[in-house]
Amino acid sequence: GAPIDVDLSPITEGQIVNVFWRGKLIFVRHLTAKEMTDMKAVPVGELSDPATFAARVKGGHDQWLVVYGNCTHLGCVPIGHQGNFEGWACPCHGSQFDAVGRVRRGPAPINLPIPPYAFQGDTKVRIG
Ligand code: FES
Repeated sequence: GAPIDVDLSPITEGQIVNVFWRGKLIFVRHLTAKEMTDMKAVPVGELSDPATFAARVKGGHDQWLVVYGNCTHLGCVPIGHQGNFEGWACPCHGSQFDAVGRVRRGPAPINLPIPPYAFQGDTKVRIG
């Protein structure tokens, strides 16, 4: 499918917006300052799918997270602002993801994947 453009200007701090690209659900999340600080402080060595904060966002646009919105276990849709890690909790079998989509509690085997995307200025992101 063709790329989609997402206007970031209406998305307030802390908000998670659902968009669809190629029929797949994608979460676009505007991280708060606290969430960014907390996520940077997580020891990467404790993660089952190790990834730094910097690896989960684009430099210069750190406050934006763009991830696929289906649990990496069996594909349910995790619920935002639930669980113990400022991120998402999956209602199906209890996986939890943190504010940058890293898996923090099983059975999900890997982090929420990041689709191809690029910023077009500060208020628009192109997915695809
Ligand atoms: Fe999410 Fe199983 S589908 S934990």
